[in-house]
Amino acid sequence: MTAVGVAYIRAQESLRPDRLFDDPIAAAFVEASGWTPPLEMLGDPSEISDEVKAFWGTIVAYVIVRTRFLDEFAKDAWEDGVRQFAILGAGLDARAFRLPWPSGTRVFELDVPEMMHFKEDALARINAKPRCERIAVAADLTEDWLPALTASGFDASVPTAWMAEGLLVYFTPDQNDTLLQTIVSVSALGSRMGMTLARKGGLEVPDMPLESAGGPGEVRSVPELWLSESPDDPVAWLRGHRWDAEVFGTRERAAAYGRPLPESAPESALRALVRAVRIER
Ligand SMILES: C[S@@+](CC[C@H](N)C(=O)[O-])C[C@H]1O[C@@H](n2cnc3c(N)ncnc32)[C@H](O)[C@@H]1O
Repeated sequence: MTAVGVAYIRAQESLRPDRLFDDPIAAAFVEASGWTPPLEMLGDPSEISDEVKAFWGTIVAYVIVRTRFLDEFAKDAWEDGVRQFAILGAGLDARAFRLPWPSGTRVFELDVPEMMHFKEDALARINAKPRCERIAVAADLTEDWLPALTASGFDASVPTAWMAEGLLVYFTPDQNDTLLQTIVSVSALGSRMGMTLARKGGLEVPDMPLESAGGPGEVRSVPELWLSESPDDPVAWLRGHRWDAEVFGTRERAAAYGRPLPESAPESALRALVRAVRIER
């Protein structure tokens, strides 16, 4: 459900003349899911407090900004010669279909089996053609997922650009540490990582049942699924995992992309946007 919600936001953004990216497949994913957006996401005025509306409006803005941020991350990586990409918790990410990848690029997408099956069906229905070599890997990232990636042809001897967009918040701090340990074990020097992190205090959100009129999943409140916020010092945390990280704020990136957030945007809905490169020690 969270992946469909994000696809809905990308589909809406793609309709704008001043869009920060174009995702022509996002709408097909939403349609295939049968999901309809909850009133909070539509900004429906009825019975929804200003606090809840401001929170969801800011989450929507953040998703748009992070998509653009990671599109730029991918482009910078391929311009530096990286040809292997791994998108963790890919959900309905359509980068393999919408970015102008250089020839020879391989993009691995990892997500849980239910997600990958739904995605492959939806892609087949519209006969979508990737613009790179795309390899879908069904795997639970809280389990031993590396064998599935390796069996799919992942090459640990070349640099990889990893992406974890809207993912780490769904894992416990211990699961995130294990995930990063696994990633670095197969990250050749020259590898890099783009990710989002809930900020410190970012799980303190207004009380808001998220009613969806239909679609997959039993979940009624997305924030109930959020399990971890950023460590106190994300740069130090990532350095401990052998990544030299640069952390950007959503507010700052939004302004840089010409979409400044209102002053009133609640801090709890803002996230950190991270780019990191692999270091030896
Ligand atoms: C908010 S969505 C983000 C999807 C995508 N990265 C994007 O930004 O469009 C979170 C994704 O994490 C995936 N996910 C959650 N737990 C997972 C797990 N244990 N293993 C693999 N994927 C997981 C979900 O299936 C979902 O697709």
